[in-house]
Amino acid sequence: MTAPRSLATRDERAIAGNQKLRFFPLSVVSGRGSEIRDDAGRTLLDLSAAWGANSLGHAHPRVVQAIQDAAAQGAGSSVLSAAQPIAVELAELLLETIPGTERGDHRVLFGHSGTDANSAALAAARAATGRDIVVAFQGGYHGGFGSAQAVSGVFVDAGVPHDPASVLLPYPATDAQLPDLWRTVDEVFGTHEVAAVIVEPLQSDGGIIVPPHGFLTGLLERTRRAGALLIVDEVKVGLARTGYLHACEREDVVPDLVTFGKSLGGGTPLSAVVGPATVLDGAPASTLLTTAGNAISTAAGKAVLETIREDNLVGAARERGAQLRQLLAAAQGDIDEISDVRGQGLSLGIELQHDPAQPDRPRDDRFTQRVIFRMWQLGVVNYLVRGNVIEWTPPLILTESEGERAVETLRAAIVDVRHGAVSDADVAPYLGW
Ligand SMILES: Cc1ncc(COP(=O)(O)O)c(C=O)c1O
Repeated sequence: MTAPRSLATRDERAIAGNQKLRFFPLSVVSGRGSEIRDDAGRTLLDLSAAWGANSLGHAHPRVVQAIQDAAAQGAGSSVLSAAQPIAVELAELLLETIPGTERGDHRVLFGHSGTDANSAALAAARAATGRDIVVAFQGGYHGGFGSAQAVSGVFVDAGVPHDPASVLLPYPATDAQLPDLWRTVDEVFGTHEVAAVIVEPLQSDGGIIVPPHGFLTGLLERTRRAGALLIVDEVKVGLARTGYLHACEREDVVPDLVTFGKSLGGGTPLSAVVGPATVLDGAPASTLLTTAGNAISTAAGKAVLETIREDNLVGAARERGAQLRQLLAAAQGDIDEISDVRGQGLSLGIELQHDPAQPDRPRDDRFTQRVIFRMWQLGVVNYLVRGNVIEWTPPLILTESEGERAVETLRAAIVDVRHGAVSDADVAPYLGW
């Protein structure tokens, strides 16, 4: 008799490889809070929260209840051809979170993913300004296909054809880089008819880069002066993750268009663009999706927003983020391979094996791949970005003891890998990015 195939093997044989970004043979059959269970019955601590989509944790009772109620209600309509009450309530709640919208001239456009939200925002900005050029940033991630992907620096670097009507500028990490950046921005605005600038308030897939204070403010001023629109992509770091409800609040910036996705749907497909009606309504029927704003996704979204507010998850992200930073700083002091720890709130990056001050020690991406593989073996799920940066975007409900477990496991994994616990052959089938 042949042994039953593992879930990972069946997945391999049934689901397109093109849709996979794998770092180890992970399967997830259920989850609760910050933990997930695999098909072998192991419980793992999830420091990714499905790339930030499950920011309230797995199977949050309030989200589960909201989804069940909406499904049982059975109306099944979206915003396309009917007024759908839960979508209207969610849109009203989202609008309330953005200053200036109380005048009543802003709207919400619903979709299913960060990719479609950013594509819709770009299309709306181009239609509203009658211009074509989009300014975006190297290392940026705005979408996994189509027009949002074509202005995403990470994909352009990976060989995906870039949008010829886009200009990619360096994303600043320090104050010292701002003057040069402003010179380039002024030059681009002086020579191109720019429709929109699209930017992450903290760059995630580009390597967890927290930009210097003044970056978003300066960008907004220059964008407005040029008659272009600023789109802030809050898909990954928005909705409490950075210790602000919206990450751009760190600079008190109110962009023209804001995009949301991932955590907004509490694990269900839901995205949104918030912007002036004059912009979002500009090109009629340009963004029609049959199930956009459906009752199930918007019910989940409403539960997510209400829980963030009522459970003070903005405060939780700050508190847990501070604890993790403290533990990681101590680990950096003891463990030579940890080169840098950075981020904001519960959007954290741990860079391994690359110290710009030691140029004779080159960046070693394989080491980081082996470390996250080892962490999976030890019961912790986390992924890497930009080759050698471990990204932590855990559920906002992560507990203090789970935070301790995360850092202890990281320490143990690095020491194990240092001593050869994981081979190149182990990680070869799972090279992720
Ligand atoms: C900042 C940012 N914007 C947009 C997206 C695209 O979101 P989705 O994969 O839900 O389409 C991502 C995905 O990682 C992201 O990180």
